[in-house]
Parts: sequence; C-alpha cells; structure tokens
Amino acid sequence: LLVDASSQSGRKMPDNLFGIFFEEINHAGAGGLWAELVSNRGFEAGGPNTPSNIDPWVIIGNESQIIVSTDRTSCFARNKVALRMEVLCDDKGSNTCPAGGVGVYNPGFWGMNIERGKAYKVILHIKSFDSVKLSVSLVSSDGRQNLATHNIIAESSELSNWTKMEFLLKSRGTNANSRLQLTTTESGTIWVDQVSVLPLDTYMGDGFRKGLASMLANLKPRFLRYPGGSYVEGEWLRNAFRWSETVGPWEERPGHFNDVWKYWTDDGLGFFEFLQLAEDLGASPVWVANSGISHNDQVSPSVISGFVQNILDGIEFARGDPKSQWGSIRATMGHPEPFQLNYVSLGNQDCWKKQYIENYLKFYSAIKAAYPDIKIVTNCDGSFQPLNHPADLYDIHVYTSSGDMFSRNHEFDRTTRNGPKAFVSEYAVTGNDAGKGTLVAALAEAGFLIGIERNSDVVEMASCAPLFVNDNDRQFNPDAIVFNSRQQYGTPSYWMQHFFKHSSGAIFHPSTIQAGNYTSLVASAITWQNSHNDNTYLKIKIVNYGGDLVNLKISVTGLENNVDSSGSINTLLTSSQPQDENSFQNPKKLLVYGALGPAHAQGAGADALKVGLSLLYM
Ligand code: AHR
Repeated sequence: LLVDASSQSGRKMPDNLFGIFFEEINHAGAGGLWAELVSNRGFEAGGPNTPSNIDPWVIIGNESQIIVSTDRTSCFARNKVALRMEVLCDDKGSNTCPAGGVGVYNPGFWGMNIERGKAYKVILHIKSFDSVKLSVSLVSSDGRQNLATHNIIAESSELSNWTKMEFLLKSRGTNANSRLQLTTTESGTIWVDQVSVLPLDTYMGDGFRKGLASMLANLKPRFLRYPGGSYVEGEWLRNAFRWSETVGPWEERPGHFNDVWKYWTDDGLGFFEFLQLAEDLGASPVWVANSGISHNDQVSPSVISGFVQNILDGIEFARGDPKSQWGSIRATMGHPEPFQLNYVSLGNQDCWKKQYIENYLKFYSAIKAAYPDIKIVTNCDGSFQPLNHPADLYDIHVYTSSGDMFSRNHEFDRTTRNGPKAFVSEYAVTGNDAGKGTLVAALAEAGFLIGIERNSDVVEMASCAPLFVNDNDRQFNPDAIVFNSRQQYGTPSYWMQHFFKHSSGAIFHPSTIQAGNYTSLVASAITWQNSHNDNTYLKIKIVNYGGDLVNLKISVTGLENNVDSSGSINTLLTSSQPQDENSFQNPKKLLVYGALGPAHAQGAGADALKVGLSLLYM
C-alpha cells in the first residue's frame, strides 16, 4: 500500500461527511432513545373516541372490585381521553379489596428498567369528587417486589378539578422488568390522565436514555437526520408525522399512530427534542419534511400551500426570533436561542411519485425565498443523470447484499463533478448475509464508506439505517444499535463507523494498493487534527473483504518533519467468521479498538501486516 501523505496531495473532505439517521422505527424513540418509561401515557392509543382500549395498561382487580373505562373529560383539549376508575371495593366495607388494592398498572415498553438508588420523576393528572388514597408505586413485574411508593391522599372535593401531581420516586432495588402501579383500597371514582415516569438521570438532562445517547455521541456524528424514512410519509397522510403536533408541553401533544411501523407513539421525542438532541451531540440537524406524499395518497400541487406553510412554520419554530409566532413556542420550551437548522430534505423516496416534482418546486421556491441559506435535499437521484430541478443535495438510499455493497466502493467514481452533491442518507447491507448485524455486512459497508471518502468531492454526507432496534420489536434488520429495557450493544456496523469518526472535515490523501489480481482490498488515508492537542494524525484504513490472508507492506511518503513514530493498529474483526454477530450475551465479540499492537512510522519506511478478513486502521 503506497500512501502519499504530503500536504500538496491532500483534499479536504466535507465537514458533515458522516452523521446519523434517526427514524421512529423498531421502537427507536418511544421505548428507546426517549427515556419515558410509561407507554400510552395519555390513554389516547386506543383512538380519540370512547369507549377505547387502554393497551398496554392492565386492570388490577375483578369486575366486582373495579370498573375501568375511558371517557373524554380530560383537561387537555387536544387529547381528551382520560382514564376513569370506579372502585367498588373498600377495606372499610363488606366488599373488601384484594391485598395490594385495585387499580391499573403500566408495564412500560416490555418492562421498565428501575435501578436501585436512582430517582424517577413522576407526573400525573388526577381528578375525583371523593376522598382519595391512591398509591403510586414502582413494582416488579409479578407485583411482589415494591421498589418505591408515593401516596396521594386527599379529602373529598379537594381534587374535584384536574390537578397536576409531581414527585420523585427513589428506588430501593433493581428490576429491569418493573411496572408502574396506581392502586387504592378505598371506593370512589378517580380519573387519571397524562402519566409520566422519567429517570432523573438522562443524557445532558434533556430526556434521552443515557446509555443510548452516549453511544451516538461516541460516533461523533456531524449531522442528525430525522425523523424518517418511511415514518415521515406514513402509509396514509392522516397518520404521517406532523411536527407541529409534537411541540409544546408533552401533556398537550396528541400523539399519533405510526402506521408504517405499526405502533402508537406519544410523541415525547418530538421536533423540539430532535433539535435539542442534535445540539447536544454537536450535530447539524437535517429535517426530513413531509412533501404532501404518503405511501398511499398525495396532495395535488393546487392545494399544497398548507404543506408549504407548515414547513415554513417548522423552520420558524427551529430558528425564528423568540418573539415570532413559532419561535415563541420554542422559547417557552426553554430554548430562546435559535437552533442551527440548515438542511431540509423534502420527502422520502418520493421522486417517482406523480406529484413529487411539482410539489417540490413549490416547497423549494418558498423555502429559498424566506431562508436562502438553507440547503434543500431532493429525493431524485442525480448520480447518473443531471437533475431537472434545482437542489443543493440529492438523496440516495443503498440497501443491498454485502458483495454488492463492497463493489459499490466505486459507486461515485463516474458521477458528474458538476451537479449537486449526493447525500447517502440510508445505507445498509440487508438480506441473508446481514443477519442481525454480521461481520461481513460491516466489512462491506466499510468498503463502501472508503469509496465515499475517495469520492467526497461529490458526496457530501452519509448515514447508515436504521440506527436503533428495540429487541422486542424487530421490524427491520439489521440495525446499528440493539437494546432492551436495560442493555444495549453495537452491531459490527456500529463499531465499524468508529473507524470513520475522524473523517468529516479531515484531509483525504491518495493511496494505491498493489495486490496483483487480488481485488478484495480497499484502503484510504486521511490526516486529521486533534483539537485537544493540535497534533495531526495520519489514519490509514484497510478493508480486506476477501478470504485470503494478505501480507501488506505499507509505505508512506510525504510525511513532514517532527513525525512521532508511535501509533497503534486497531482492528474490528480479525479471526472471526463472516456471519459472526454481537449479542446481549456477548456484546463485544466484534469490537473496534482491539489493538493488535504498535505501528511504527519510519519516514518512508514500512511495516508488514498480516491482514485477514478485517477492517484495520493504524
Ligand atoms: O431504514 C428503513 C426504511 O428503509 C426507511 O424507513 C425507508 O426510507 C427505507 O425504505
């Protein structure tokens, strides 16, 4: 491998080259990144009309002891459904309540992870014309282990108006399969609505599950694309994500049915939280807005103006003056300073749809007129033919087999150098060889990303998909980060991305592999500056996608003086089988930074490396 590391040979890569794409799929947000532990906290998931089901809430007690129903008496105008508990049993009468009382419990998203010594902030809204003695408890899934309790005690008529209760529960024990229980042993009728349990300890105090958000931060993503994916479109427009329904106080958000991935979301992780997460991660937000098109219906250009205004309002929400109509809502949510929203992507995989271009042009001209600096992303692929409409970037999604993904190292070699740049906003090896996240899939993706580095004069940004999967709701395989209520681990694809986390804004240097007929090796070389010590580092990445063990001699020319000869070699994947995966039992079977040993730069000298099926960097 010959690397020319001279400064003259270098080319700066885009500052936002590698980032992440978050979609509400696989319970990535609801029951995942968003740390809320209660599922269906406003009882709206059964629909806006009553009677409705209260899934996954469960009734404690039989019909002679308690009657649980829903009605539309909530104090929240946009989500009127409330829970009504008519308690018939009473420990002071003949119809005594069972031990522990009657009421309801919420199992969260496949169990709540409650940890000893940790505090949980509980908020609920309650109404009753009777005296109330309601226990709010965190208990184990069999109800036997009580971890924490708070009693709400009130005289009759004290709670005759809806009242917000807020308190902390500090857990005495640990149980990853806990639930929240609301129970009583006194007869009377109690209404409850908008119930929340949030760990006090969240990522930067902003409500994100710490372990998951930290895994994102460790990738040093330069952008965050949100919220989909197909989720943006919906199966039907009436169910598509509407940013304006997801901002303001959480109690007043109606929530909606995610009809693509088939689950309810309370929209706790809404448009504001996305912008906040991007800011917390130091990433540029990329908002994918609905372009008036779903999987099954679309809005004609003659009536698209409402959608256009909705996007302009969304941009105003993100970056408008705190006194503006939408900027003021952001300010009341605690963020008077504008968010740095500089990218808007119009639709998702919609280029082929009848109305797309006509609608797109209306969005494009309205956004550019109001916000000329915003970069607009089209769904139409400009990599093989010029676009017939204006755009700053064009969106490309690549889902394919591992062999094909590796060969796409050359995907952009022949792309015209004149048009808008590509945004590969979704890429992943899928199908049989991808499993639930295999070594071979990660290797192939690494080969593809090395091609993106080489072609980063025409590729501006790239992110894998999907980012998260809750192991209890696997709808799309594979994914970068796997979790359940308590644990999380990265698939090889996740760890592979660590090899690229210094690439954005770094200098790309030409390198040549001389390996005869062996075509399964690809490599790249970058120099990047560490902002902590101002040192410049040379980073060489090599992917061996083939089955042969290769003896590699690396020669670096063009290094300037003051070269520190120390360094290290890290490998994701040596001596593993192509189909190997990480798992909850063995989360670090395939892992980045399993250092092989020191590398030594010797001016133009070289070390011989044995490279098996692996991705290495030194
Ligand atoms: O990443 C999963 C899905 O794949 C996305 O929702 C969609 O854009 C693509 O088809």
